[in-house]
Amino acid sequence: MTSPNPPNRIDYLRISLIDRCNFQCVYCMPEGADLQYALKEHWLTHDEILQLLREVFIPLGFTRFRLTGGEPLLRPGIVELVRAIAQLPQTEDLAITTNGFLLADLAQPLYEAGLRRINISLDSLNAETFQQIIGGRGRSRWQDVWRGIQTAHKVGFSPLKLNVVVIPGINDHEVLDLAALSIEQEWHVRFIEFMPIGNDTLFGSKGWIDSESIRAQIRDRWGIKTSSIKGNGPADVFQITGAKGTIGFISQMSECFCDRCNRMRLSADGLLRPCLLNENGQIDLRTSLRNGIPLSKIREQVAVLVNEKPEINFKMRESGVTGAYSRTMSQIGG
Ligand code: 5AD
Ligand code: SF4
Repeated sequence: MTSPNPPNRIDYLRISLIDRCNFQCVYCMPEGADLQYALKEHWLTHDEILQLLREVFIPLGFTRFRLTGGEPLLRPGIVELVRAIAQLPQTEDLAITTNGFLLADLAQPLYEAGLRRINISLDSLNAETFQQIIGGRGRSRWQDVWRGIQTAHKVGFSPLKLNVVVIPGINDHEVLDLAALSIEQEWHVRFIEFMPIGNDTLFGSKGWIDSESIRAQIRDRWGIKTSSIKGNGPADVFQITGAKGTIGFISQMSECFCDRCNRMRLSADGLLRPCLLNENGQIDLRTSLRNGIPLSKIREQVAVLVNEKPEINFKMRESGVTGAYSRTMSQIGG
């Protein structure tokens, strides 16, 4: 099979631990949605996850793992699972993506369990705007998340990454304030282009802002340079002049980085997807495991999918990234 580009080494697995979330971010969940969540008994158990890592993914060369959700800190036993994955001798990198709400209590135990890298969503510095974005009534949860971020910082997580989805008319006026968080601390603030996945209505009415116009605002205010600190993901990384941290741009709308993609995604209910936007080609590892298919056979099926991924990426690029997706980010694994 010929591929248009030298195939990337696919060594990075995003593992969703739960498809539920304690937030309902406007960009992630459709309003008033009655999402069909996976049945709890369909969640891969800790043992199944570890078995798949040891017997399937690690032998195929996967060494970097990220735990996602929904909200992964809602998963019962998260600290023990982190410890077990961190202790696998082949684990080179283990990270988590969280909304930060439970982090003030969990940062310390997670650090002690071996976790070193955390990405936290922070779409606003204003408690009211924050509440408007994450949905739900009552007291704003901004303080809790901010406390979670501060605790993670104190405990020693590094690099601490803050993810911002910029939505026109909602938080775009805060771009400079959010970027400024990278000046005093060694924090990485990453702006993510809003995608039409999850909430098509909001996307239709608000549209999206491209990374270049955000970058231009920051450049005009402070000046920026390309950073020598490169992540291993799709972000383009810059640094505000004199800043300790960095700013990153994830531009999946304005730029296609499929040919740089090095990841696969495992959903909480055990579906393995080669691509966020592509439901074709996914395989159901849970059913295979529970039907007693030998692990060597499952490893072969996964190897085929890994080898086909460059082709899948190329087809995605040819056809353009459009279409209707039956799962939101919280269900696929953000
Ligand atoms: N567009 C862009 N990013 C999204 N996320 C969820 N939904 C969207 C969307 N529609 C990302 C956010 C969040 C992570 C869990 O998933 O970055 O921080
Ligand atoms: Fe928000 Fe993440 Fe929860 Fe989606 S999964 S609602 S983006 S916190």
